[in-house]
Amino acid sequence: MNRFAPTKAAGALSVDEVTNSRRLRRMRKAAWSRRLVQENHLTVDDLIWPMFIVEGTNVRQPVEAMPGVFRYSVDIAVKEAERAAKLGIPAIATFPKVDLSLRDETGSHILDPDNLINRTTRAIKAAVPEIGIITDAALDPFTSHGHDGILRDGVIANDESVEQITAAAVLQAAAGSDIIAPSDMMDGRIGVIRSALDANGFQDVAIMSYATKFDSAFYGPYRDAIGTAGLLKGDKKTYYINNANSAEALREAEQDILEGADMIMVKPGLPYLDIVRQLKDQFAMPTFAYQVSGEYSMIKAAAANGWIDGERAMLESLLAMKRAGCDGILTYFAPTVAEMLKR
Ligand code: PBG
Repeated sequence: MNRFAPTKAAGALSVDEVTNSRRLRRMRKAAWSRRLVQENHLTVDDLIWPMFIVEGTNVRQPVEAMPGVFRYSVDIAVKEAERAAKLGIPAIATFPKVDLSLRDETGSHILDPDNLINRTTRAIKAAVPEIGIITDAALDPFTSHGHDGILRDGVIANDESVEQITAAAVLQAAAGSDIIAPSDMMDGRIGVIRSALDANGFQDVAIMSYATKFDSAFYGPYRDAIGTAGLLKGDKKTYYINNANSAEALREAEQDILEGADMIMVKPGLPYLDIVRQLKDQFAMPTFAYQVSGEYSMIKAAAANGWIDGERAMLESLLAMKRAGCDGILTYFAPTVAEMLKR
């Protein structure tokens, strides 16, 4: 007998009375039954590996704010691409850390057919043709001010930026890029890039639109990784989506789809799963999320302090994106997850 209170409060119905004997715990009772009714799965086919590239040879430079993430020189990037292909990772997305001496007001080095990004694409395509290469047609690694557009009197010049990004996209396709992924959020970029790719014989090069890229604090460690953190003047609020808005995100995605995007992406990932679900339901497009640098670093930092189980948090965050409607995820955890899934 419980000596502090009666075991049943006066007037309370029994559990069977309120549930009509529908007990959801029945299927949770054992590992086999939980497996049987599991609705979503994370597989290696879901993974895109974002990779940082730096000049030099035999370089593996740790990114300080992202434990376990490195900047690779082209030769090592090729080796890592081989490893990724062996693990079954379908695609890599490359991001260059460009020498400061090559950055200028307009990001003109993006138009060099032999810049770091294009050299990386050629080298990986030559050595590991079976892995997909996604390149970011964006100016921020190339501008001296860290913005994704060309600045004219302190204002981002939309159409001029689109022209330059488009010329860069054609060069990236010529280098062997399979998917052009413009991350700059300039208006009209998808349609203009599509037309230029087609006019230059690259009908089979796809476009992954960073359709809904939000103004976010979670990009912090990335800006350190590509060396724009100290450069950026002001913020990116005049081109990224206000993170309070979702109807605007739907309009952005619709516009990019009408202009010819083959795949759409939501960025960041975990704080924007409502957007993923809305886009998937509304447009039935191949839909991706980018688990960005800050999301990665938060999990790593908490795990390093012993505050969460890092492996479980990693898998849970990725599975949550699948559940929300993602067909795949860009994640810095890609090689780690692929290795775990293989075991
Ligand atoms: C910019 C770009 C960003 C990321 C990739 N490309 C964001 C930004 O600096 O505004 C973020 C990726 C990440 O945080 O992991 N074109």
